[in-house]
Amino acid sequence: MSNDFEYAHNNKNVIWMSQNTNHLPTHGAIQDAIRKSADEREYTKYPLASGFPKLKELILEDLNLPDQDLHITNGGTEALYCLMRHIQPKGSEMITSDPSYFVVHKFAKLGGAKCTDIPIYHGDYRFDIEDIKEAINPNTKSIFLIDPINPLGSTYPKEEKKAICDLAEDHKFWIIDDITYCDFAPNHVLAADILPERTITGYSVSKNCGLAGLRVGSLVGPKEFISEVRGTMVSDLGINVVGQRAAIAALETKKDWLPGMLETARKNQEIIKKAVDKVEGASLPVYPSAASMMVIDISKHKADPQSVQDKLLYENDIFVRAGNYVSTRFGEKFIRVSFSIPTPEVEKFAEAFPKVMEELNI
Ligand SMILES: Cc1ncc(COP(=O)(O)O)c(C=O)c1O
Repeated sequence: MSNDFEYAHNNKNVIWMSQNTNHLPTHGAIQDAIRKSADEREYTKYPLASGFPKLKELILEDLNLPDQDLHITNGGTEALYCLMRHIQPKGSEMITSDPSYFVVHKFAKLGGAKCTDIPIYHGDYRFDIEDIKEAINPNTKSIFLIDPINPLGSTYPKEEKKAICDLAEDHKFWIIDDITYCDFAPNHVLAADILPERTITGYSVSKNCGLAGLRVGSLVGPKEFISEVRGTMVSDLGINVVGQRAAIAALETKKDWLPGMLETARKNQEIIKKAVDKVEGASLPVYPSAASMMVIDISKHKADPQSVQDKLLYENDIFVRAGNYVSTRFGEKFIRVSFSIPTPEVEKFAEAFPKVMEELNI
């Protein structure tokens, strides 16, 4: 697996559909802010530990959560790591799904917590409220709600999100609302709008703003909770100052670039669907996806996900991800492709995918 990443990083021609990163154009102000920060050698000092006040203000504005507070982190991943250290002690349980963004399950297990990994690769491809009810026990401290879900792209309608929040309220557990992909979802609902006092929101500018390489995110929650965790964060000395400047520029200009980006992402999904429809034995469990990626189920085809990944990467310079990265139980059934990339690159995938599947149909 690490060879795949070395190959992809060393080869500039590779079309990157493997990590849900956003390669679409955003705004020139972002690069200007990066250059200015570099020219002024801002990086020689530690940044303000709590983050630039302007960035904090813009994030709370972006979420429309003026009564909450946040801590700036090295990407959403650090926010989730620190959160696990804080709310999932040894012996506690977190309600999780399979498929999921498994690194967070690993963070929880590191401290001796247990994850439920409820299977969701069926039906609506998201948590079923009855399954959640069954999983709740006195050790349950939280539910890890990824909305929209990586890798499937499913999202929760308001009434389902409300029902999950009601359970959290009744049983006194936290909702961890990982909204990394929410800007791609047409009707996204924040758990913090329904149950602010028991919701911790995992926020990232990696995927919406296309800043994955700068590692900026944050942990957003009730003021008392954030003041309690602040002293326990890994980013005790603040985070990447250049990244913060870029994130400020991205959020300040978001209304100018987001609609165009979403339009391209929507068009790209259609192109992928047409390619998948050509392949017997391949299908899209969730379409359209509400995120920047989707799953292509190939369980009724003779090809296995790893061979599809390898053939696309090493023979076509297209990097997609075999399902086992995001699912223990169902990883052999699918590949994951992200589509927040320029349309001509998606067209190359659409050309290559049916051919690769034909070659592997043996
Ligand atoms: C569901 C989910 N949460 C959080 C993250 C973390 O993103 P970052 O650490 O780049 O902010 C990712 C990245 O892929 C993700 O898929």
